[in-house]
Amino acid sequence: MTLSLRSLAEECGIWIGAAVGIEPLSSDGTFCDVLAREFNAITPDNAMKFEHLCPEMGQYNFRDADEIVSFAQVHRMHVRGHTLVWHRRIPQWLLKQDLSRDQVVAVLEEHIFTVAEHFRGRVAAWDVINEAVEENGLFQDSFWLRGIGSEYLELAFRWANQADPGALLFYNEWGGEDLNRKSDAVYSLLQKLVQHRVPVHGIGLQMHVSLMEPPDRQGLVANMRRFADLGLQIYITEMDVQIHNSPGSLKQQLEAQAEMYREILEACFSISTFKGLSTWGVTDRYSWIPQFTGYPDAPLLFDESYQFKPAYWALLDVLQSR
Ligand code: G3I
Repeated sequence: MTLSLRSLAEECGIWIGAAVGIEPLSSDGTFCDVLAREFNAITPDNAMKFEHLCPEMGQYNFRDADEIVSFAQVHRMHVRGHTLVWHRRIPQWLLKQDLSRDQVVAVLEEHIFTVAEHFRGRVAAWDVINEAVEENGLFQDSFWLRGIGSEYLELAFRWANQADPGALLFYNEWGGEDLNRKSDAVYSLLQKLVQHRVPVHGIGLQMHVSLMEPPDRQGLVANMRRFADLGLQIYITEMDVQIHNSPGSLKQQLEAQAEMYREILEACFSISTFKGLSTWGVTDRYSWIPQFTGYPDAPLLFDESYQFKPAYWALLDVLQSR
């Protein structure tokens, strides 16, 4: 087998993944080649969100998501489903309705069963809940919280487990990588869910980070460790590292970026329940970051021409040294 992130990750028994959009997957051959060669896990970036799957009331369309899952199956890759419950990307037809609590419960239950049963046996892990806690530690305001109350979290995990008992179920969050009010609140939430025997198997730490605001390494390890002590798997689900505005030449920025990737993967390996790391994209060519921040950036492992970046070699090096 040729040397790749994928081959080394498989020797280490971890997943190394990337988020993918339907556009490059269906139109960019190099993208597909690099994806299948370097990664053993795929997260659809948008194709499994509620609004994308069900733009019209009662009419699910799995075409894009199925195409991504088929690609994964053909190339023997794991699929991380993203995401069953989120406060964003809820279809307009649903937001417009004025529903009773029982009706919102019924909508959520039906959505989770429809989607998780559709992909049963093909999606190995689900981000069941995405981003349910705010930076101040309170629950994120949402259609689900307002309609059901905080019980929606527990219900969602139970329904996902009934719909696909074989899937690993994750709570996925951004900004709670090291020790802060948000990660404290997520910890309390997951501790309660575990105590109540709710089927939750892991925590996804998104890891959208920047050279200008690095996560605290000791805090990251302590945070991952406390979740692991609850018996939860740890997965870095959406890593990218912004370099915009950081000091030095581009070469220096890319080297600093590589060090950040290296440190984070090394920190992960100090945690016994570490399951895998996915980047939010394959190549800088299609990263969501420039559109979001308004600045050019280069946050991923491959540059716009699919050349290996120092960050790629840093991860390869960590995997090789295991
Ligand atoms: O669906 C419309 C399409 O009809 C239209 O032609 C197009 C024009 O721009 O916009 C399309 O929607 C965009 C969608 O991506 C699909 O490309 C939305 O405007 C845009 O807001 C959306 O952004 C996505 C964002 O989540 C919101 O869903 C990003 O691509 C995606 O990378 C990002 O991913 C999130 C994770 O799900 C959760 N964690 C944070 C991460 C980054 O924000």
